[in-house]
Amino acid sequence: MLEILEKRHSVRNYSDRKVEDRLIEEILRAAMTAPTAHNSRSWEFVVVRQKDLIQKLAQAGKWISFAEGAQVIIVIVGNEQVSDKWIENCTLAAGFIYLEATNQGLGTCWAHVREGKTENGEDSEEYVKNLLDIPSDKRVLCLMPLGYPAEGNKPQRMKTLEKDKIHSEKW
Ligand SMILES: Cc1cc2nc3c(=O)[nH]c(=O)nc-3n(C[C@H](O)[C@H](O)[C@H](O)COP(=O)(O)O)c2cc1C
Repeated sequence: MLEILEKRHSVRNYSDRKVEDRLIEEILRAAMTAPTAHNSRSWEFVVVRQKDLIQKLAQAGKWISFAEGAQVIIVIVGNEQVSDKWIENCTLAAGFIYLEATNQGLGTCWAHVREGKTENGEDSEEYVKNLLDIPSDKRVLCLMPLGYPAEGNKPQRMKTLEKDKIHSEKW
């Protein structure tokens, strides 16, 4: 397990190789094994493969243009009506997507949407909801663009145990 965790890093450059539907299904299964507050399972996922939609999604926020090179984008949608912990629930699902993507030899990177703005100053969540016909009462946390990693993806740092971040018994 630690091997996968240490291998995981954010991948923003993707190759043109198609991502098999079977792998996307397994990644979504992984997402749905994530724990949720009161077992509320307050997330839904939109799988986007159409190139024109992928291109438009990559314009939903300021730091997410890398998403345009993805083969698939999984949009993580929270149901605020079902749980006020939708952010936590969706965040864990995103974490599980990161890990299963790594396990499958794919790359992904969180592309932030919630409370963001597009280059034109439009609310990022509204932009994504309009683009994908997501009901107005739902929330959009982030996009998880996916693809086989291309050259040029470098892990940010070695993942080591940072002892200065650990406190024993009391701070
Ligand atoms: C809440 C959150 C928001 C993020 N938003 C973005 C984003 O909008 N664009 C981006 O390129 N990366 C984004 N990232 C990825 C981080 O930049 C990345 O995880 C961090 O630099 C550490 O690198 P690593 O994932 O390779 O370990 C986000 C990550 C998190 C957890």
